[in-house]
Amino acid sequence: MKAIILSGGKGTRLRPLTYSGAKQLVPVANKPILFYCIENIVQAGITDVGIIISPETGQEIRETVGDGSRWGIQIKYIIQDVPGGLAHAIKTARDFLSDSSFVMYLGDNLIGTRIDRFVSEFNSTTPEALILLKEVENPKQFGVADVTKEGTVLKLIEKPDDPPSNLALVGIYIFSPKIHDAIGKIKPSKRGELEITDAIQKLIDMGCNVESFILDMWWLDTGKKDDMLTANVIVLDEWLKESIDAQVDDKSNILGRVSIGRGSVVKDSKIRGPVVIGENAVIENAFIGPYTSIGNNSKIIKSSVEHSVIMDGSELIDIERLEESLIGRNVRIFRNHKMHKALRLMIGDDSVVEV
Ligand code: G1P
Repeated sequence: MKAIILSGGKGTRLRPLTYSGAKQLVPVANKPILFYCIENIVQAGITDVGIIISPETGQEIRETVGDGSRWGIQIKYIIQDVPGGLAHAIKTARDFLSDSSFVMYLGDNLIGTRIDRFVSEFNSTTPEALILLKEVENPKQFGVADVTKEGTVLKLIEKPDDPPSNLALVGIYIFSPKIHDAIGKIKPSKRGELEITDAIQKLIDMGCNVESFILDMWWLDTGKKDDMLTANVIVLDEWLKESIDAQVDDKSNILGRVSIGRGSVVKDSKIRGPVVIGENAVIENAFIGPYTSIGNNSKIIKSSVEHSVIMDGSELIDIERLEESLIGRNVRIFRNHKMHKALRLMIGDDSVVEV
């Protein structure tokens, strides 16, 4: 069994964060989303992994992820020249995949379970495809499945106007090499892409066995700001391990599950977990409330922040209360006491500021 992880795309729904980088590298609890995908694949015993990258953000992904040796696996990079859809990505990876069965994992999908049980199920029942489904409130935004009570998949439709159910296709699939035949038989969709949903539908039309599982644990497609904050909350809640490797003075108080990286300094501050703080950060005269992730080399001074993500190198100085915010890298937010009731902003394109 091999695996491919799809890490292309423009990340339009996560702008402005994705102007300067790949959406799959946006951190959740201080770790790039893509790393959670890789770790899940590694836990399933798969060591031959291809990452599909785009010409625009591929280099950043290569540099951040490396050759896989840190996980004891081999990673090959495959460039998809145009964003031609998920089935097109499989076509691009045809040589790498050869005649192997494979997991396809979308690099912006986070799931609250290991995938090893689905890999075992696939290996024992040998269907042509195994898909995961999850009940959602907004099925129109996903691929949607119509399934019988017994779990037989009758029909799959990509982003339907009139969804036949509220079961969305999760971005994690397992295929036999038969999927290549099905992809050879489909045409681009309305959005001009070769859709994986259409290819799986083609497998069904060809009389192949497509197995489905309905997930009862959480699944997040980390496309938008609110999804990112939700992902941060869930991952901190479920996976954060306590570990304090920082200098914390006597006047500070840390409660709950908190992880603080090497070289960081905490002075005269209160931290209420779950909270993760990276390396070489300075927390001074501050309150860091639950569900907050603070990146490396950041400074939180005379400020209060909770339920937020603050990425590497950013500073918060003299800010009374910051909540439910997603702050990119190297951002400075500070109070200017001379400018009463005036905001002075320099904000990138597509930012959202709520005052
Ligand atoms: C893609 C698939 C869709 C699936 C979703 C899961 O959508 O086309 O069927 O439900 O991923 O994340 P996209 O992210 O390309 O809109």
